[in-house]
Amino acid sequence: MNANPYETIGFGYSRHRRPDPRIAAQIEQALGSATTVVNVGAGTGSYEPRDRQVTAVEPATVMMRQRPPGSAPVIQGYAESLPFPDKSFDAAMAILTVHHWTDAAAGLAELCRVSSRQIVLTWDPAVTARFWLVEEYLPEIAEADARLTSLDVVQTWLRRDGARVSIVPVPVAADCADGFLGAYWRRPHCYLDPHIRAAISALANLDHNLVERGMRRLKVDLATGRWHERHQDLLDADTFDLGYRLVTAHSPTAPISRT
Ligand SMILES: C[S@@+](CC[C@H](N)C(=O)[O-])C[C@H]1O[C@@H](n2cnc3c(N)ncnc32)[C@H](O)[C@@H]1O
Repeated sequence: MNANPYETIGFGYSRHRRPDPRIAAQIEQALGSATTVVNVGAGTGSYEPRDRQVTAVEPATVMMRQRPPGSAPVIQGYAESLPFPDKSFDAAMAILTVHHWTDAAAGLAELCRVSSRQIVLTWDPAVTARFWLVEEYLPEIAEADARLTSLDVVQTWLRRDGARVSIVPVPVAADCADGFLGAYWRRPHCYLDPHIRAAISALANLDHNLVERGMRRLKVDLATGRWHERHQDLLDADTFDLGYRLVTAHSPTAPISRT
């Protein structure tokens, strides 16, 4: 396996990457009637439902150690080789993790092997590229995104074997609790905080000098009011579509709604 960046950037994850209740509700709905769930690339346990039987899989010790007391049992392992028999779970969830997998195709095949339904949170890079932080300050993020596994690959893989796939937008609330790349779209000053940036892999993995240069420009634009002039429309919005997409796949015979 390639080095997992979360072994080094994962410190402080649970402080800035708390589950957002609105996203959690979308995941809950997508899980449907599943009672047994495997959470792959589980990190610190965000979005793991409390009222279902969850097993977590996570490779990084740093992340496992931040799981709160009472969270689901966690197995140290990789998506590409899940230590479970075929169809041992009603559902598998993979939240903002597939782009980190060394072999995403193998990992997605494993999700399909061990579960009847798969729920993957990923993003559409064409939409993300238009996010102001990317377009105006760090276009290099879009270049890096193009090399990562995202919506196209995920949905193509999950469609194999005739599975029914639905893709729904996951709008990001202005006060989103989960500090991923797009979380601070209406709180631009947050991107100036190195601790916040350290919990966002797209920024933590980018060349440090590039990020510093972009952030210096953002700081000036915030101080002069240029950012606010340019993004007046955002200031009145409560949610924003930054390209995050929840992909749900299930075999044509599996029930989708919770009973
Ligand atoms: C952005 S975090 C997301 C964690 C969690 N799903 C959440 O929503 O907070 C990405 C996670 O993927 C994990 N990861 C990286 N490579 C992996 C692999 N090959 N298989 C499974 N998980 C992996 C990282 O260790 C990290 O915990």
